[in-house]
Amino acid sequence: MNIELPDLSLVCLVGASGAGKSTFAQRHFRPTEVLSSDAFRGWVADDEADQSATADAFAALFHLAGVRLGRGRLTVIDATHARRADREKAIVLAREHHAVPVAIALAPPVEVCLQRHADRQDREFAARVIRDQSRTVERSLKHLRKEGFRRTWVLREPEQIDAATVERVP
Ligand code: CTP
Ligand code: MG
Repeated sequence: MNIELPDLSLVCLVGASGAGKSTFAQRHFRPTEVLSSDAFRGWVADDEADQSATADAFAALFHLAGVRLGRGRLTVIDATHARRADREKAIVLAREHHAVPVAIALAPPVEVCLQRHADRQDREFAARVIRDQSRTVERSLKHLRKEGFRRTWVLREPEQIDAATVERVP
């Protein structure tokens, strides 16, 4: 699948922990284009896993995203975006800056996310959290368009996620 992105997009990656959002972001975007909620937790609290820092982290993230969009820079938000309220904030921000709100959802089978979770050391939360996220994401997918995302892509199989290409279009 070739993902065509307008030059001034605000891209929301959507997917449970382990879906491959950060891997995808690293593969297809410049490091400076990607604003990750984990990195912002790190910047505001010196601990990427500190959930008590989430509100401050997102405030800082959205501020920077707004600055970037104001300067005409494509921006990617690397966060779970499982809940509608989280996605809505991004859509509002995009509209404020006349950017195109885009959703790229990575929704591999939950077993894939769970296996990756088991293999990594940098995530402490329970498998149940991933199951919940995965279900919430799955239920969200069919609503993305009417929430206001102007373009949406849903990638399911790991092979499909790996094979995807991203292209900028004016
Ligand atoms: N991974 C993998 N093969 C892929 C994609 C990811 O083996 N095709 C591995 C990564 O190396 C990482 C783990 O799976 O150890 C999770 O991938 P990541 O991209 O970090 O997932 P995220 O969706 O970003 O997870 P989180 O929300 O927890 O940041
Ligand atoms: Mg990640």
